[in-house]
Amino acid sequence: MLENKDLLSINQLTKDEILSIIKKAESYFRNNKITMKKKDLNRFTQINLFFENSTRTQVSFEIAGTLLGANVVNFPLSNSSQSKGETLLDLASTLNSMNPDILVIRHPNSGAVQLISEKVKCSVVNAGDGNHEHPTQALLDILTIKKRIGKISDLNIAICGDISHSRVARSNIFCHTKLGNKITVIGPKTLIPKDIEKLGVQVFYNMVDGLRDIDVIMVLRLQKERMDGGYFSSEREYFHLYGLDDRKMKYAKPSAIIMHPGPMNRGIEIDGDLADNIDKSVITMQVEAGLAIRMSVLELLLKQKIENV
Ligand code: NCD
Repeated sequence: MLENKDLLSINQLTKDEILSIIKKAESYFRNNKITMKKKDLNRFTQINLFFENSTRTQVSFEIAGTLLGANVVNFPLSNSSQSKGETLLDLASTLNSMNPDILVIRHPNSGAVQLISEKVKCSVVNAGDGNHEHPTQALLDILTIKKRIGKISDLNIAICGDISHSRVARSNIFCHTKLGNKITVIGPKTLIPKDIEKLGVQVFYNMVDGLRDIDVIMVLRLQKERMDGGYFSSEREYFHLYGLDDRKMKYAKPSAIIMHPGPMNRGIEIDGDLADNIDKSVITMQVEAGLAIRMSVLELLLKQKIENV
């Protein structure tokens, strides 16, 4: 059972809540139950509201809701009154009057999803807000690690690349801290927030030292859409220093796995052949786990609503 009506951040979840989301998702993962509609959920309305581009997150929330039997509406932002200058809070109040049960929201500004959640009665799921949090991404990463390594604690996790602009990094740091894993962040000084050690992570500015003894390597994209200046000299030099390739993989444990939330820029943060190497890379498994996690989160939030009626 989840305590809050919304899922806005990993920070708001207890360790037990994280484990119960993972447990329910496991029952959906590669399981034929995934095609079974939940009778008690088919009267629910889910609106997906994506103010930023998305492929895997939006599609998997849509499929997850549909598989659970909810009525899923994808809000068309380009045709909406947002393009006529309506404020975010007016839009929230309009949608609230239509009485949806769940809103799944992605927004380029940190905190915007929380702002909407305070104005509506229904449950709100944060599908990524600015560089703040992306809770379902961290949860699907945990499920992938559990499936591939068989455990989700006592692990050494490295998050590599553009940490400053990454909501995925922040949610994963909060999640792994709660699970008792050791987190290392690796990247150029310009792309690592100055006071990040306060979150309980170790910082390295080079891959040789940072990857030592690492079990899980999470690679991040250079999120240029959130950059307001020059943070690295060239993509070529960035790949040489921080791009994950066979040579740098040797610094980690031989059993280390590679993760990437996507979308991936081959030849910049990761070598294309390495990303496709299924002995090491679990990137496609992350997408599969994403569907199971989103089903689990939607179901747990909707069930909480049924019980509170
Ligand atoms: C991430 C995001 O949007 O934060 N992607 C995703 O949800 N799969 C990471 C990214 O955009 O680089």
